[in-house]
Amino acid sequence: MTEPWWKRASVYQVYPRSFRDLNADGTGDLRGVIHELPYIAALAVDAIWLSPFYTSPQNDSGYDVADPRSVDPVYGTLDDARELIDQAHFRGLRVLVDVVPNHTSSHRDWFQEALAAGPGSAAREKYHFLDGRGPDGDEPPNNWMSMFGGSAWTRVTEPDGRPGQWYLHLFDSTQPDLNYANPHVHLDALETLRFWLDMGADGFRVDVALGLAKDPAYPDVDDPEGLILALRMDLDDGSPQAMERRRRVSNSAFLDRDELQDIYREWRQLLDSYPGDRMAVAEAWVPPERAARYVAPDTLHQIFNFDFMAAPWDAERVRDVIQTTLEQLEIAGAPPTWALSNHDTPRVVTRLGGGDCGRRRARAMALIAHCLPGSIYVYQGEELGLADADLPDESRRDPVWFRTLGAQKGRDGARVPLPWHDHEPPYGFFDPGGEHEASLWLPPPPDWAAFSVAAQSLDAASTLGQYRAMHRLRHTHPGLFDLDNVSWPETEPGVFAVRRGCGFSCVVNFTDDEVVSPIQGYVITASDAGVRLERTVVTLPPDTGAWIQS
Ligand code: NOJ
Repeated sequence: MTEPWWKRASVYQVYPRSFRDLNADGTGDLRGVIHELPYIAALAVDAIWLSPFYTSPQNDSGYDVADPRSVDPVYGTLDDARELIDQAHFRGLRVLVDVVPNHTSSHRDWFQEALAAGPGSAAREKYHFLDGRGPDGDEPPNNWMSMFGGSAWTRVTEPDGRPGQWYLHLFDSTQPDLNYANPHVHLDALETLRFWLDMGADGFRVDVALGLAKDPAYPDVDDPEGLILALRMDLDDGSPQAMERRRRVSNSAFLDRDELQDIYREWRQLLDSYPGDRMAVAEAWVPPERAARYVAPDTLHQIFNFDFMAAPWDAERVRDVIQTTLEQLEIAGAPPTWALSNHDTPRVVTRLGGGDCGRRRARAMALIAHCLPGSIYVYQGEELGLADADLPDESRRDPVWFRTLGAQKGRDGARVPLPWHDHEPPYGFFDPGGEHEASLWLPPPPDWAAFSVAAQSLDAASTLGQYRAMHRLRHTHPGLFDLDNVSWPETEPGVFAVRRGCGFSCVVNFTDDEVVSPIQGYVITASDAGVRLERTVVTLPPDTGAWIQS
């Protein structure tokens, strides 16, 4: 029997708003993704993950869903979605869609009905509506905080015009949390899954997979701000202190609760009832010892590995994170996942120092991420070596920026539309001169021409060339990447080396000095043109790495 495809997949994350804009209205669309499927296929990845494209007021760039079984007109139509899935399949690409089960948009009919129906109604039971504290109920029901800043509760005005109950929103106030104690909510989530599975989706990325269950007693938590800080990816430097902070998430009042897995068991049964290895990957930033719960044989298939994403530029720490991940997931028998960035984090070039140094490090880290057992997730633009854009404040769109009154810049810098070609904005993101032409939803930096797809396509030594080479090798030499084949040769401090199958290794120099690789052999691919090979001796300048065949 062949292994399910997802056990060792390269998955490319498409953030549709910023991928490619075929109707030239300044925002990416599904027809843009269809148009560029040849580009994705040429990257030699196995699958795409599409961030949300459902009907939404776009207060959180589509993670505020008003109708989970429809397509927002800004992205296209249901027929476009169907065509995208079919065409991707035709090109040998699987398709994961993003489901957002924790909350809806406040524009969803359910929430509007709940507002109109008033306290005690069945409509309110689908969300978390509670009376406030204090003599007039004018204080929030408890001290839970929103991940985007401020209280997690907003008070409504009742149909009779009086100030009334409060509803829970772990994110923006336009994203009310659903109540999974209500059977309608369960059934609706399953219906959404069925809808996309029937359309041919190969699986799901599960948004906020750690948040669906809440303590029905709604208790105050100790240090509410500390709990929220535990999930701030921009603050996680991979340190033991950051890990300790994150342990607070484990089975807490509204995160990572044990009973979540009952929900995922239902989902797993549904996924298993479809042919063709359908799967789901959890967005759950939990401590390593909690990860296995999400990927037990009867729950979901994969969980994102945020520890690896947060790992600093430090050979020993990177190795520790990898070892811990492998140990923890072995318990569940689940394949690990690796990613260097996504649409919520700073881009990896920026995180590892920015500029040329950050770019060199990012390319070296990519060699590590792509040689490990399990699946790799690549965020669009990472293969181009893009850094975060430095945006003028007036163009920011992230609710984090607004809810923290500018104290946190938010995630827009990592979401700027991709540069395809041309020497100036919009860099081929759309073709200028169209009927609906508008400005880009986020402005790109003036110096992105050198990073465009066209500028790198013919250059095998470019970041794009490196990504294509890595993904191709994962296909042509699957034996090199075997699940069980990981060993750790002795190295000097600051030098990372891992041996994989069939005499294949990855070596990265994290130090500030040139080093001779502890492993000799032929260089299959390198992160930098400065890597040298004399006979079989590999020399690595600072911040570089190589895949070596011995
Ligand atoms: C995680 C998503 O990746 C992020 O973009 C979004 O803001 C929150 N979940 C809320 O849906």
